Amino acid sequence: MVAQQIRWHTHADIGSDHGHLLKALLKSGRIEHGIAIENKSLPWENSRRTLAGLSADVRLADGMAGLAEGEADGLSVCGMGGAAIARILETHPEHLPGTIIVQPNCKARLVRRWAIQRRFALVDESMALGSAKRVRAAALGTRRRFVVLRFQRSETSSRQQHAYLDEAYGGLDQEAALLFGPRLIRAWDREFVASLYEEQAHLRSLARRGPETAQRLAALERLLATQPPESN
Ligand SMILES: C[S@@+](CC[C@H](N)C(=O)[O-])C[C@H]1O[C@@H](n2cnc3c(N)ncnc32)[C@H](O)[C@@H]1O
Repeated sequence: MVAQQIRWHTHADIGSDHGHLLKALLKSGRIEHGIAIENKSLPWENSRRTLAGLSADVRLADGMAGLAEGEADGLSVCGMGGAAIARILETHPEHLPGTIIVQPNCKARLVRRWAIQRRFALVDESMALGSAKRVRAAALGTRRRFVVLRFQRSETSSRQQHAYLDEAYGGLDQEAALLFGPRLIRAWDREFVASLYEEQAHLRSLARRGPETAQRLAALERLLATQPPESN
């Protein structure tokens, strides 16, 4: 699902791990050149092995420190928590290309908030089903879902600079949109609605809820109350 979003000359993948994303992009002709960045030696070695003989640089570096300004057309950061992704993107914002694709495992709201602060517009948001066998999801009897977010740097005029608002959020409950995704909310597709009801049932079943969980459940219930009838 991430690979389908990418088609340009040079793509950088931060946290490349085994290097499979860049290999697939190079083999399918979606990119001409790849830059894999890893901050740990074992996955860096794995990426080197996977990408040997292909048009790719494999760098041992901490996130955006491994990419120079203007070097890539697009960037991906996948398979980490939202806090880690936002931290990586924030470290050298001047090195970021215009298009960024992320797949946070949790706390996507932190990446959405980072993007608003840095004036990257959320131009696409989709949900994918993970493997039924994976993690806690299996124990809950549900399949884990992943969101893939695509951001594009906004070209704001100097007049707009102090009042940037991503139009994706316009007219929505801001807290619910940050938590659950403004474009997913507008699309209201079946998978998304199923994920909301599953989460509602799970949060309601908790014997005790901390303030963050209680706030999330309240935002979720406000959101479900706005569900258009035709999306049932
Ligand atoms: C869970 S794996 C995800 C791998 C792959 N991107 C995927 O989606 O399947 C996260 C990878 O990111 C790497 N990583 C974490 N923080 C990083 C950073 N600051 N800079 C570069 N790589 C990082 C880890 O070493 C690990 O290989």
